[in-house]
Amino acid sequence: TDNVIAAVVNVDIEGPRISRHVYGHFAEHLGRCIYGGFYVGEDSDIPNEGGIRLDVVEALRALDIPNLRWPGGCFADEYHWMDGIGPKDERPVMVNTHWGGVEENNHFGTHEFMALCELLGTEPYISGNVGSGTVREMSEWVEYLTRDGDSPMARLRKANGRQEPWKVRFWGLGNETWGCGGNMTAEHYAQEARRYGTYCRDYGDNKLYKIAAGASDFNYDWTEQLMKQLGHLGCQRVNSSFYHALSVHYYTIAGTWANKGSATVFDTDEYYATMVKAARTDELLTGHSNVMDCYDPHKTVGLVLDEWGTWWDVEPGTNPGFLYQQNTLRDALVASVHFDIFHRHADRLVMANIAQTLNVLQAMILTDPDSKALVLTPTYHVFQMNKGHQDAASLRVDVRGGLPTREVGDATLETVSVSASRKDGRVLLSLSNLDADAAADVEIELRGGALSEVESRILTAGALQDHNTPESPESVAPRAHNGFSIEGDTLRVHLPAHSFVTVTGTVSG
Ligand code: AHR
Repeated sequence: TDNVIAAVVNVDIEGPRISRHVYGHFAEHLGRCIYGGFYVGEDSDIPNEGGIRLDVVEALRALDIPNLRWPGGCFADEYHWMDGIGPKDERPVMVNTHWGGVEENNHFGTHEFMALCELLGTEPYISGNVGSGTVREMSEWVEYLTRDGDSPMARLRKANGRQEPWKVRFWGLGNETWGCGGNMTAEHYAQEARRYGTYCRDYGDNKLYKIAAGASDFNYDWTEQLMKQLGHLGCQRVNSSFYHALSVHYYTIAGTWANKGSATVFDTDEYYATMVKAARTDELLTGHSNVMDCYDPHKTVGLVLDEWGTWWDVEPGTNPGFLYQQNTLRDALVASVHFDIFHRHADRLVMANIAQTLNVLQAMILTDPDSKALVLTPTYHVFQMNKGHQDAASLRVDVRGGLPTREVGDATLETVSVSASRKDGRVLLSLSNLDADAAADVEIELRGGALSEVESRILTAGALQDHNTPESPESVAPRAHNGFSIEGDTLRVHLPAHSFVTVTGTVSG
């Protein structure tokens, strides 16, 4: 029997704006994300511009990627940016100790990254080295990138072929400084973040938005220590000049870190366990936001979910240090549930970056090393179907009588997830049915305006394990959905089992 859900959406009552940056991306020097992914080198027979693979760029442009975080991850705290500028054959080689112990020839450096951002039409987000770098090194990187006029680093940039400074807003002060980024305590790192933040200067009209390296998962104490360093309790506004935001990392795994399970071979119990983990993102963001509210009730400091997504065992036969995994309909539903949660936290969440864009963890695109074919994953399609939420006003979805639930171990999982937003006179609704077997029917009373020119799309497949390969690139791909009706102010949407559906319409009245 189908689950039946009744809800109300007031299309004329706009909530907080959903930052487009919650659709952000992350690309690390890890496995085949940069080398053999984005960057194939100028001599490659794959069409490229300056070594950057053009079919990848074209596919990603369709997602309107708002920002790209680089060069790590754990790699960021071992990266010395000066090794990655100047003639490529003179750049020093290093060992990428975190990820496979492979050699890094530094051919993809600052100029190549900025060129990639320009091709993608996206904002750069640079993650600086706190763990093994120096304050001077980071400060000079900012100067190199953003300072106009005459100065040592501006001259060096010009000597390397770039006259104009770039615009760089997002700047990370280290990564996972509780772990791979230096194994610091929260108290110690909070002081370091103030120190590093002090010397990352604004040049001309380039205004940095500095992001302190935040907690892992539910470590609220870490967030508290960082907030304490920004100001005082109470109504006094925090002084966020050292850093403007703090981050948190949260990955969805079904098993344990030692045994995360396969990306494609899993049973229904593992599927539901995965969805429970994904849904806990709501608890995570609520918990960190609550701590921040105690210090910053005016919400001037941003929360950034710097890394999120599924993390499975690597594909059999691939380098364990390369984190290459397939991507099924299950991953797509993990993504759609995250986005609903992000939309509900629009008042505090300023950015979220999926880990990672290409060939690593929950990727949008997989490139085949042999055939050079490019495959769009089910997760890619969720980003594409949902992109209308970027910078839209969030709309509340009030459910009458609650959502259908299922007991999963000790947890209760809501098996339907919905969010809505409004932008440029259009409403966009996203609906996920997480039930592996039962369909759901959602009946939404639309108040404050009628919908016309309604269109709907669906992403589903015969099985949760279905995924795309070079031989079968469209096993999981969106198609038009005719399982909806609109009668007066009532929108009815049919959600088959394990499906993701979007509905858009023009608001009048
Ligand atoms: O995304 C892979 C790794 O996960 C990142 O390098 C690190 O920050 C996190 O532990």
